[in-house]
Amino acid sequence: MDYTNPSLTVISSQVQAGAVRWRSPSNIALVKYWGKHGDQLPQNPSVSFTLSGAASDTTLRYSARKEAGEGVALELYLDGALNPAFTERTQKYFQRLLPIYPFLKQLSFRIETSNSFPHSAGIASSASGMSALAMCLVDLESKLFEAFPDDATMLHKASYLARLGSGSACRSVYGGAAVWGKLNGLEGSSDEFAVDVADRLHPTFADYHDDILLISKSEKSVSSRAGHGLMDGNPYAEARYGQARRRTEEMLTVLKNGDLERFGELLESEALTLHALMMSSHPSYMLIEPNTLKAIQAVRLFREQTGHPLYFTLDAGPNLHLLYPDSIADPVKSFIREHLLYFCEDKMYLADRVGKGPEALEVSEA
Ligand code: DP6
Repeated sequence: MDYTNPSLTVISSQVQAGAVRWRSPSNIALVKYWGKHGDQLPQNPSVSFTLSGAASDTTLRYSARKEAGEGVALELYLDGALNPAFTERTQKYFQRLLPIYPFLKQLSFRIETSNSFPHSAGIASSASGMSALAMCLVDLESKLFEAFPDDATMLHKASYLARLGSGSACRSVYGGAAVWGKLNGLEGSSDEFAVDVADRLHPTFADYHDDILLISKSEKSVSSRAGHGLMDGNPYAEARYGQARRRTEEMLTVLKNGDLERFGELLESEALTLHALMMSSHPSYMLIEPNTLKAIQAVRLFREQTGHPLYFTLDAGPNLHLLYPDSIADPVKSFIREHLLYFCEDKMYLADRVGKGPEALEVSEA
């Protein structure tokens, strides 16, 4: 796929100031993307559930730039306050997009973004944030130029753009579930963008729960970007990439047939493998905490004693995601309240579900 397009330029004097606004969710990987190469390409395919509650709400305001410059003119406000670090990161991102969207240097931008989850929750916002911004960009393209022939074409491009911002973000543009990475037997799959696999989900997964235990709200000591980089020297890397490929294929089968036991086995092994890769990197590091392990042990005991299909996964951090079908929501919620909140910072957890993907919102007054 080559989205390079030198003809996407505007006549500045004809551009009326305007804005687009999108809400886009986070996602939780069932088989993890860990390791990349080239221009944000994954070393292995991954598959995720798109969430519902954990989301970013992003408004992209634009106006004609008085004088076209070489760089991009952009300011980013997080929760109403100018954020210099995100401004710089987003300027670099827009700069990288210039071959695809040359008009980005003809306009000036004000981006206003906020997250539905508390700042300090220790929850990564890059998937929701970058996918919301990518949705704003394709929406802006269709306003300034031509409308996309259909939603699928627009989402493809949004996924491609989101990937360039943050790999996992490319899966958030689809509701239900998405696969990123070229996979045998999955038509249309690509390393460059994610594809929608929601129509392959067994009904039990359509409204699956993901309750996120906030074991620690502190910022991670090693970023995902640095973690991906350390895979280059990891002695288990090649074996891991092969395993992840096979597991993504198997996970798709399991998502279709609804085998919750196999689903859970793969899910938990993926979480533990991800963290084992961090521990076996050079330098070695650890993002799980003692309370992560205590909560894992309690979840396994609960499963043994009740037979309920409650399984966990982890992102690149200490917080435990608990995945389960709606049919056992009552006993699981009581279990969390009675036995797991004790392991959480400030006794907090976020209740989330599989969701429908990004949505366009009304723009509010500047
Ligand atoms: C453990 O997408 O945050 O959550 O591409 O450098 O922005 P960058 O990394 P990022 O990595 C996510 C890693 C993961 C697994 C996953 O979501 O697949």
